Amino acid sequence: MTAVLDSAVLDAATLTWQDVCASGDLIPDRGACALVGDQQVALFRLGATDELYALSNHDPFSRANVISRGIVGSRGDVAKVASPMYKQSFDLRTGVCLDDPSVSLPVHLVRERDGRVEVALA
Ligand code: FES
Repeated sequence: MTAVLDSAVLDAATLTWQDVCASGDLIPDRGACALVGDQQVALFRLGATDELYALSNHDPFSRANVISRGIVGSRGDVAKVASPMYKQSFDLRTGVCLDDPSVSLPVHLVRERDGRVEVALA
């Protein structure tokens, strides 16, 4: 199981997890979009670490649902995704914009179970 938000792991048992796809559906370092409840979630699997990340698919700068089509990379030690629109980068772990820390994407808990990827909306 991979959980992104450590502080929330203790509460994981009480969260409602939604099945989104098979683990094998996620291509390393490429985003995928999933509808969880009524929210578009951008999912990422890092090739280097196999870690999963789930963030809002909505780019606050362009107001378009495009984060899942962003370019995965890193800035220093920080794994990030750059919006395909105006290229702002977001920390995959926290959702904070590296170019404007006053802006951040909502991040969601994501885990892998029995070959399936599950997301819980925070
Ligand atoms: S609907 Fe998924 S990326 Fe646009």
